[in-house]
Amino acid sequence: MNNMAKLIFLKSARPNLANLDDDTQVWLWIPDGKPHFFHEHLSNLQQQGMMLRNLIYVAKRANKGLSYDVLVFMTKTMDYSFFKDKIRVKSRWKKHEFGKGKPRKNGKKPYNDKGKDPSNVWIKEITKNGSPHVIKLDALDVKETFRRILDVATVKNDMVFSNNDDFLQFAKLHGRQTRRINGIPFTAINYRPNIDNGLKREKSSPPLYNRYYIHDSRLPKDGLYEQVDFILTSPPYYRQRDYGYDDQIGQEANYEEYLENLRKVWINCYHYLKEEHYFVLNINNFMKKGNLRLTHWNMIKILEGIGFKYHDSLIWYQPNSRRGLTPKNVCDAKEYLIIVSKGGKKDEFGDRLLRFKQLRGSLLPNEVILHPARFPEELVEYFLKLFTKENDLVLDPFLGSGTVARVSERMNRKWIGFELNEQYVTNLTQLLLQNQDIL
Ligand SMILES: C[S@@+](CC[C@H](N)C(=O)[O-])C[C@H]1O[C@@H](n2cnc3c(N)ncnc32)[C@H](O)[C@@H]1O
Repeated sequence: MNNMAKLIFLKSARPNLANLDDDTQVWLWIPDGKPHFFHEHLSNLQQQGMMLRNLIYVAKRANKGLSYDVLVFMTKTMDYSFFKDKIRVKSRWKKHEFGKGKPRKNGKKPYNDKGKDPSNVWIKEITKNGSPHVIKLDALDVKETFRRILDVATVKNDMVFSNNDDFLQFAKLHGRQTRRINGIPFTAINYRPNIDNGLKREKSSPPLYNRYYIHDSRLPKDGLYEQVDFILTSPPYYRQRDYGYDDQIGQEANYEEYLENLRKVWINCYHYLKEEHYFVLNINNFMKKGNLRLTHWNMIKILEGIGFKYHDSLIWYQPNSRRGLTPKNVCDAKEYLIIVSKGGKKDEFGDRLLRFKQLRGSLLPNEVILHPARFPEELVEYFLKLFTKENDLVLDPFLGSGTVARVSERMNRKWIGFELNEQYVTNLTQLLLQNQDIL
């Protein structure tokens, strides 16, 4: 029997790479998952040849609501077994149990029919009286978390290494061979923001509010210097969607260029924002050849480099997402909401794990094409309540279909938006502002 580990599970520590076989899975448990504590270490591990396969967010209870721990899932090669069927999640929401789909031509079901595909948000979903609607989210039991890691990575008699006695005990109880090892402890990195950002300050007459501008948000907009009370936006993701015009953000030849383009926009945003006010950025990591690119972490470093104060990252959970569905991974069902400010004082935001109603469908009755990446209105509402009051000015530098505009109007906030694709805004913002119900 092979004496090398099939699974290495470490709490707040990283593995000694010499311990790894080609088919070993490495799972790291990072309580509270504060990015400055571990992301730089992950980048180092990637540089040493490890593949960062996924970041998994495990719900836990905290003072103010739901928070999360992070599980980092890494491998040395793609040559490992991943027993995904064992961790499929039961769902009463039948139409979202992907296994219920029609058989393919070869007679095979498209997915396993024992439940919903597992995602990288591990949470307890509580339903009422068998009703299909998830009404409440709750923390996941630590034992259930251990169970999932063990089952997805190993079978009976496999060798498991860990620095965590509770996990070793659990593994032993479930018929695995165990060995105690010490990982190399993670140390917090004191990332010092570079405040010297060379921003120019110009004041002129402010532009008109409650309207969108066909404007490249990389370029400064006159008159907005320290006029804006709150910024909420979701930029194009790298290589995910073609918004249909040249030189667009997200379609750059390389990832570094993409980061640099967004940096230009965030510098302008720093200009526009009033002192002590907040900026919420919706972003996600992206997968390149099975190895995760940490866009979330890169954004935090860029924002801090400009002078923004980083407060927290909330997770927005999208239960029905099927992004990144592969046989050797769990799918990506979350996005990040990065909260930064220009010297703001507030540090507690309630839940760190949020869920908003999903938007479905792509065509309006009158055949107007909906924007492919709209915010849920509830998400905008949540942050407008948290960070703004009536008559405040809200900016979205990537307005898209104008969700921020629509909700701002409804909540009596002023708004301003930038967008390059005129079609989205003319099709939709006009409709929205006439208060037509398009959903
Ligand atoms: C992810 S979408 C925003 C969706 C929006 N939150 C909504 O609810 O509809 C990003 C948008 O940014 C626009 N965009 C891309 N590059 C831009 C640029 N340089 N300046 C302004 N808008 C840009 C794209 O056309 C796209 O509509």
